[in-house]
Amino acid sequence: MADFRHAAQLALEAGFDGIELHGANGYLVDQFLQDGSNKRTDAYGGSVENRARFLLEALGELIPVFGADRVGLRLSPEGQWGDVHDSNPKATFGWLAERLCSLGLAYLHIIDPRIKGDSTLHEGREAVAAAFMRKHYAGTIIAAGGFNREEAMQIVDEGNADFVAFARWFSSNPDLPERLRHGWPLTPYKREAFWGGDEHGYSDFMPYQPLAALPEHDGAPFAVCGAECVQCGLRGPAHSMPCTQPEGSRACLVS
Ligand SMILES: Cc1cc2nc3c(=O)[nH]c(=O)nc-3n(C[C@H](O)[C@H](O)[C@H](O)COP(=O)(O)O)c2cc1C
Repeated sequence: MADFRHAAQLALEAGFDGIELHGANGYLVDQFLQDGSNKRTDAYGGSVENRARFLLEALGELIPVFGADRVGLRLSPEGQWGDVHDSNPKATFGWLAERLCSLGLAYLHIIDPRIKGDSTLHEGREAVAAAFMRKHYAGTIIAAGGFNREEAMQIVDEGNADFVAFARWFSSNPDLPERLRHGWPLTPYKREAFWGGDEHGYSDFMPYQPLAALPEHDGAPFAVCGAECVQCGLRGPAHSMPCTQPEGSRACLVS
């Protein structure tokens, strides 16, 4: 537990505004929380109160350093990452959410189970986790996992989340908030660049430049004007207008 407090102190000294305890996706805190992994028979295993003890003690180390309103908590109710799961997730996470209400945390960051790690498990399935937690938790909720622009606006409008977090779309859209704000097209991400390689497909994506705001470039190489093709979503060095590729094909990224 001392390590948690020490890490928080280092983060504070380094100038961080707050800290998030990772209680999701099969990390240590999650392993304690869910009964699929926690087989302990001591005060840290068995009942949900016991399984949540590690998490609550860790929060108890972080809160004095940053203040509760600067500490967030990430959870993945019904998540299956690393085969960490629970026999009764509704009971476990419902109890936990209610227990957390009095702490005054900055937020709960809830990963939807339609996502496993960085992959979509259930394509087209509606998000359920934040709405479930909302029934038990009155504080700020950040929903994450498989959201697009429309779903993000919907879940906030419905009051089941206060914010929506994005991961994969951010990897290929450095200006993602602006694109979402304006409804601009998103550049497809490159899964093969998630976990390795160099800057290609990782940090070389450009901000969106609306074509209308650019000078006439019909027939000009896109490398010259730096624009992004609204049809295929990419900038190809030899790309010219009009794009002849099907939408999302990425076929016009030529070397
Ligand atoms: C490259 C990459 C690395 C990630 N690393 C982690 C990680 O270390 N821990 C974690 O809990 N989730 C990790 N995630 C999962 C994301 O935090 C997020 O929950 C997931 O991608 C679903 O959100 P999205 O649909 O907006 O991408 C990672 C995702 C990506 C794409």
